[in-house]
Amino acid sequence: MHFDIITCLPELLVSPFSHSILRRAQMKEIVSIEVHNLREYGIGPHKQIDDYQYGGGAGMVMMIEPLSNCIDALLDKNQYDEVIYFTPDGETLDQASVNRLSLGERILMICGHYKGIDQRIRDKYVTLEMSVGDYVLSGGELAAAILVDSISRVIPGVLNDAASALTDSFQDNLLAPPVYTRPAEFKDMHVPKVLLSGDDAKIREWRYQKALSITQDKRPDLLIK
Ligand code: ADE
Repeated sequence: MHFDIITCLPELLVSPFSHSILRRAQMKEIVSIEVHNLREYGIGPHKQIDDYQYGGGAGMVMMIEPLSNCIDALLDKNQYDEVIYFTPDGETLDQASVNRLSLGERILMICGHYKGIDQRIRDKYVTLEMSVGDYVLSGGELAAAILVDSISRVIPGVLNDAASALTDSFQDNLLAPPVYTRPAEFKDMHVPKVLLSGDDAKIREWRYQKALSITQDKRPDLLIK
C-alpha cells in the first residue's frame, strides 16, 4: 500500500510514521508513505497557500491553485483508489472503512488547515471525505496519521502475529477482552485462573464471553450492528 499525503505542515507527520509498527511496515516494504509539501506549490515570492474567504468572515481558506497543481502533478504519475479529504463533516471513520481501504493499492490524502480548502477542490478531486470523530482538529495531519496507522496494521504481514489485527477491538464489532501479563499475583490482585490453565478452548470461550459483556456494557450499539 502506498500513501501520498499533501500537507502544508510536513513536520507534523515525521514522528507518527518513524516508530514501531509503521516504521517496520515501511522497512518491510509493505507500506510506503510520501509526504508532499504544499508550500512548494505556493503562489508568488511568499509561496502563498491561503487567502481570505469570499463573502467575508473570519478564517483563511486554502487556495485552489496550489492544491490543484499539487494534485494534478500526482495524478499525472499515479492512479488512486481514493482521494481522501479530512474534514469534520466527512464520513466517520470506523473499522469497516479501514478494512475496505486496506484492500486498495494507493491512496491520496489531503490535509486541510484554517477554515478548510476551496470547495472546488472537493468537488473536482475528492472521492471520499473522512472525519475521525465529532470534534474539531487544527488540521488534517493527525487524522491522516490515524488513517495510515489503522489501515497499515490490517495489511497482511505488517503485524508479526498474523492473527493479531483480527483480534483487535471492533473486528467482529466486539471490543477486546482484558489482557494480563506477569506476575500472576500483584498486591493481592490475581490474573483470572482460566488464563493460566493452558486450556485453549476454555481461554477462547472466556475471552469471547468477556468481549461480549464488555461490549454490552460500554458500546451496546456495536452489538446491534
Ligand atoms: N479536520 C479537522 N477536524 C477533523 C476531524 N474531526 N476529522 C478529520 N479531519 C478533521
